[in-house]
Parts: sequence; C-alpha cells; structure tokens
Amino acid sequence: MAFHQYDAIIVGAGGAGLMAALYAAKGANVAVLSKLYPTRSHTGAAQGGIGASLGNLEEDNWHWHAYDTVKGSDYLGDQDAIEVLAKMAPEVIYELEHMGLPFDRTPDGKIAQRPFGGHSRDYGQAPVRRSCYAADRTGHMILQTLYQQCMKENVTFFNEYQMVDLIIEKEGDSYLCKGVIAYEIDTGELHTFHAKAVMLATGGWGKCWSVTSNAFTLTGDAPAILLRHGLELEDMEFFQFHPTGIYRLGFLITEGVRGEGGILLNSEGERFMERYAPTMKDLASRDVVSRAIYLEIEEGRGIGGKPYVHLDAVHLGEEQLMKKLPDIVEISRVYLGVDPVTSPIPVQPTAHYAMGGIPTDLDGRVIMGVEREPVYGLYAAGEVACVSVHGANRLGTNSLTDLVVFGKLAGQHMAKFADEIDFQPLPKDPEGWARGEIERLLSNSTDEATAAKIRNEMQESMQHGVGIYRTDKLMSETITKLKELQQRYKKVGVEDKGKRFNTDLMEAMELGNLLDIAEVTALSAINRTESRGAHARGDYETRNDADWLKHTLIRRGTGGGYEISYKPVVITDFEPKERKY
Ligand code: FUM
Repeated sequence: MAFHQYDAIIVGAGGAGLMAALYAAKGANVAVLSKLYPTRSHTGAAQGGIGASLGNLEEDNWHWHAYDTVKGSDYLGDQDAIEVLAKMAPEVIYELEHMGLPFDRTPDGKIAQRPFGGHSRDYGQAPVRRSCYAADRTGHMILQTLYQQCMKENVTFFNEYQMVDLIIEKEGDSYLCKGVIAYEIDTGELHTFHAKAVMLATGGWGKCWSVTSNAFTLTGDAPAILLRHGLELEDMEFFQFHPTGIYRLGFLITEGVRGEGGILLNSEGERFMERYAPTMKDLASRDVVSRAIYLEIEEGRGIGGKPYVHLDAVHLGEEQLMKKLPDIVEISRVYLGVDPVTSPIPVQPTAHYAMGGIPTDLDGRVIMGVEREPVYGLYAAGEVACVSVHGANRLGTNSLTDLVVFGKLAGQHMAKFADEIDFQPLPKDPEGWARGEIERLLSNSTDEATAAKIRNEMQESMQHGVGIYRTDKLMSETITKLKELQQRYKKVGVEDKGKRFNTDLMEAMELGNLLDIAEVTALSAINRTESRGAHARGDYETRNDADWLKHTLIRRGTGGGYEISYKPVVITDFEPKERKY
C-alpha cells in the first residue's frame, strides 16, 4: 500500500484549492491532489472577470455588491456569507494583484473593471463596472498566479491522481474525516493519504447535461462520495445555465462580450432583452437571460428556425475585440468558423455552474443539518461547496470571488485545526471499498453495458427533463430513466484491463458519481414546487416564499432511497421582495 501523511490534503487544484493550499501552507505541511496538471483546472475557463466593488471607474461599495448578490440569488443566498464575500472581495483582488496577476488597467493605471449581469449601482438603479479582468483570460491568470505562489510556499503536488474515496468514520454522533484514497492514473496504484484536515475543491458537475461549458473532468466526484458516506448535499436543484454557450458545443462565450456592449438578437433582428428586462437588458441576471433565449427559440424566433440566437459584437470593432476579448474571437473562429469581427456568434444556453453542493460554514468546514454540526477534519470550497453565497442563481464574476475568499478562509482554518489535533488512527483496510469497486469494473464484461452509452443517455435525459424549464412530467420521466441507468451501471464493464492511463476505467468510475449526482439533482428539483432563480417550473410559475424560502438538504436514507429535509435561509439586511431587472 502506498502511504502518505500530511497535515492538510486538498483535493482539486483550481482557484479554491490553490488559494486554500497557499494559506494552509503558512501553518501546516500541505499536499494538493489533482486529476489534472494543476494549471489545466477548470478555473482556467473562467473568462470575463472577478467581482469586487473597487469603484475604479465610478462609485461602488460592498453593500451594493451584497444587495445585487442577494437579489441575484432570488433571496435564497445566506446573507451572512454574502456579506463576507462582498466585504472581502477588494482585499483578495489586491492580494492577487500583489502576487503578480496581470489585470488589465484603466488609463490612470488602476485595475480595469467592466459591467456584468446583475451588478448595479445604488441598489439596482443602473449597471456598474465591478468585474476586474485580464482580457478574457481572468481564470487562467488566477491559476498561473496561485500555482506560482504555491511553488514558493513548498506545497507538494500529486498530479493526475483521481480521488476514489474518503476515509470518513462515525464516532458517536459525529463524523470525522481522516484522509483520502486516490488512484494514480499513471500506474493504476491506489494510495492512502492520511491527513488531519481534508479539503474538497473539485468543482462542479456540468457533465450531467449534454450541452455544457464544463470540462470532461467535472463529474461530481466529491459530492457523490459524501452521499455514499451518508452525508448531505444542499440545494442541488439549482444549476445555472449560462445564456451564451457556443451553439451545440456549449463552450463558454463570456458575459464580458455583453459587458463590453455586445447584444443578443433573435431571427427578426430584434434586441429581445429589452422586452424581458427593460432596465438591465442584456445584462440582466443569467437565469433571466437564459429563460428569455429559451422562450424566443420556443416561440419560433431562433435563427433560421434552429435552437440558437445571435450574440452580436461586430459594432465593437476589431481593435476592441482583439484587445478585450481575444480568446472569444479565437474560439468562435476555430470551433464555429464564425469571425465575431464580421459576423454575430450563434449561441444557446449551456449548463454552467452548480449553485448547490456540499454545505459549509463561513470557515469552509463541512456541516450537517439544521444544527450545522461540523464534520471534523473536512472542508470544502469553490463550486463544489454551498456556503451559500449564490442561492438560486449566481451572478457572473462571483464564482471567482467565491473561490479566493472562501478558499483563503478555509485554508487558514485548516492550518489552525491541524495545529490543534493529532493524526487519528486509520481503519483496518481504508482502501477496501476503492479496491473492490475497481475490481468489479475491471471484471465485468462489456457485453452488458458500456459507460459511454449510459453517459449519453443520462446527459440527454437531464438536458430534456431537468433543464431550463421543468415540469413534474418531464422530471418524473428523467427520474425513471436515471433509475434504469443506475441498474444498467451495475453491469458496466471496461474494455481496457491495463494499469497505465486507463481512461476507460476512470470514466466508468466517474459515471457512477455522475449518475448519483444527476439523481439527487432531479429529486431535489421535483420536490421544490415553486420557481426560484435557475429552478423554473412550467407548472409552478411563481416564487413561493411562504413555503419555500428554505434550503433543501438531501441524503441517502435507510433502504437505499433518498431523504429530503430543510434548513432556514440566513436573512440579515435584505428582506425578500419581487425581483425585477
Ligand atoms: O461569462 C463569463 O465570463 C463567466 C463568468 C462566470 O461564470 O462567472
């Protein structure tokens, strides 16, 4: 057995993982495990910017940022966490700047800022420039900057290690996490990582859907493992569809295009967002814009009768486009054969971001139930976590802010926690479950079922049944389909029986996680009989605060099914009211 011992283990090397590693390393010895080479993590795909009320171009303040975030969340975000996010945002931006992040600049040398959907001045009066950016490569620059800093702090990296299990034990009424079991992709060997504190920063699960901006690696591994250990997930019904994905492929076309002045047009050449959001127009919040595009297409105003609309940025001119949005120009040219300098870009909504996830407190500790009992030694931050700052709908640019703010707080707490406790004894065979699962997949025959086929069917069913608009009928059909796929998954086999870079095996393991996450998403969604933020129901069209101003918690119950419970939303400064843009 390959064995390692570190004070703190962080799983995932995106913005949250690296920021946590950096801060944990100030007081503990730290290792980061990643499925990838760290700078290939999905944070690198975040394009348009990171939100902070620097007020470099016009007046701004953290309370306006907090208000916009609460309103964007359709009042489901916890306002104590949102206050931390908005207040700490300027501080972490300056930290990143001092680490060397090459932000774009204003003519007088300050960090440049651009408008983004749902961000406003004076509590919704007019758009504000709040997104700090490095062209359309902001996430990429954050990754490079933080990775360099981690090198400087002597953080150890285990690259291309896939987490297959967590060592979690129940002692009395409390859960305790003692480490991670990971599969070394290069050798096929299992490794035990014994730790005092473990942090999950594995990102989202957009691969549950067929049209997604998410990378192949975003398969919900961490939350699926927690479900298996009997822990809860929060608000899984809320998954964001970004309005502008490349038609059919789903790759992200940043909201920064609209921030710079790009507009959405239907087949009649109409700027339709003027009808749906008279004040904020194309810069309304994402759920509003995605639904508008969906309705335009449903009502026959997709371009050429097809399921897409146009994002027109031609009027920005070649110089602006190449300076501010070079990757978008490149992506459109390469993947669509469309040049945004001369033609509008075909776009459709794309599954983009998980608002729900692993419940945490403000220090990134994983918590359980209404009582918010910590799972000792276990942390989560970034997209995989639900602290909850995004509630029912995240504002653009708040994802990167969330990563660095809560990554930092979690890293600091991990170092303190690791300093206060000793390593806890491990169970007798910590790798037992992982070994059994790998042997099962390797010994099953491939005649019965293949992972690729099941994955495709799952993605189509989720796209159709648990997409932008949902109804009881559509979601019920998806739930039935997912149950059938779960049965077929039991017989899934892999063709490659080898040890080195067995991507066949990895994908089969990931599919097991995706199926569990798709199922809890669909079950949480059908259970919530209202429309709120990204959860829009054709059969319950309005928000219902009287019955549903509460977070969903879902966990495995006895007998194999799932149990749903609730916890209250934290409200401080902003009482829920009707949302208009
Ligand atoms: O549109 C974008 O650039 C995406 C940013 C985000 O998801 O925050």
